[in-house]
Amino acid sequence: MRQANLKGKASVGKGLFITFEGGEGAGKSTQIRRLADRLRDYARELVVTREPGGTELAERLREIILSGGAKKFGPLGEAVLFSAARIDHIDKVIAPALSRGAVVLCDRFADSTRAYQGARGEVAEAAMDALEQAALAGCRPDLTFILDLAPDIGLARAKNRRGEGAADRFEGEADSFHGLLREKFRDIAGAEPNRCRLIDAERSQDEVAAAIWQAMAEKFRQREHEAEAPAEASQP
Ligand code: TYD
Repeated sequence: MRQANLKGKASVGKGLFITFEGGEGAGKSTQIRRLADRLRDYARELVVTREPGGTELAERLREIILSGGAKKFGPLGEAVLFSAARIDHIDKVIAPALSRGAVVLCDRFADSTRAYQGARGEVAEAAMDALEQAALAGCRPDLTFILDLAPDIGLARAKNRRGEGAADRFEGEADSFHGLLREKFRDIAGAEPNRCRLIDAERSQDEVAAAIWQAMAEKFRQREHEAEAPAEASQP
């Protein structure tokens, strides 16, 4: 089944796959909720999901990884586990939804593996590429919002949100890690400008939501244009 998907994106149908990325406390959940509310009038079907997670098996892996239970494997081992969770998520949730023509909003995806597990440069780029290619099997996002903000602001927000609870596996990393993480996400945005939109997330929630909506509207227009293109091309 995954072999067939390797042929490319066409296999995941006409849906729209949107991912949200960024460091800790960037405000992804709030923005996903706001975008989902707005999209309900436009999308024939809307699927909101998250990583690690989205399926029973992936949620189980989530528990192991975020509790720190897989830290001893090191970044490559953790990247493999995140990818295993992703394979299940793609096969059971994301690819079928896209095939039905749904808009899929996903809180974190493959860029998080590149950024978090790749932050300290301990995983060879070639290994990361191979893992990503095998796990995604052509199921790549159409649009990725990278919410960018200073790590100290994000970490303070995340701490505020969790109250007395303990920091999870990655939130508890050293400040230097969160600085590297931000750079990694920025590098990803710079390397793939067609897919990625770097969003200044230090602004108010309303301003961030407006920037996201503007990019969404552009994407819808581009899609309409693409849908009209074959008809135009066939005219004499
Ligand atoms: P979550 O509670 O969903 O955090 P957030 O609200 O910041 O998204 O926890 C997910 C954590 O897992 C987060 O710290 C990022 C990390 N992560 C990776 O390190 N690699 C990955 O591939 C993914 C998907 C997440």
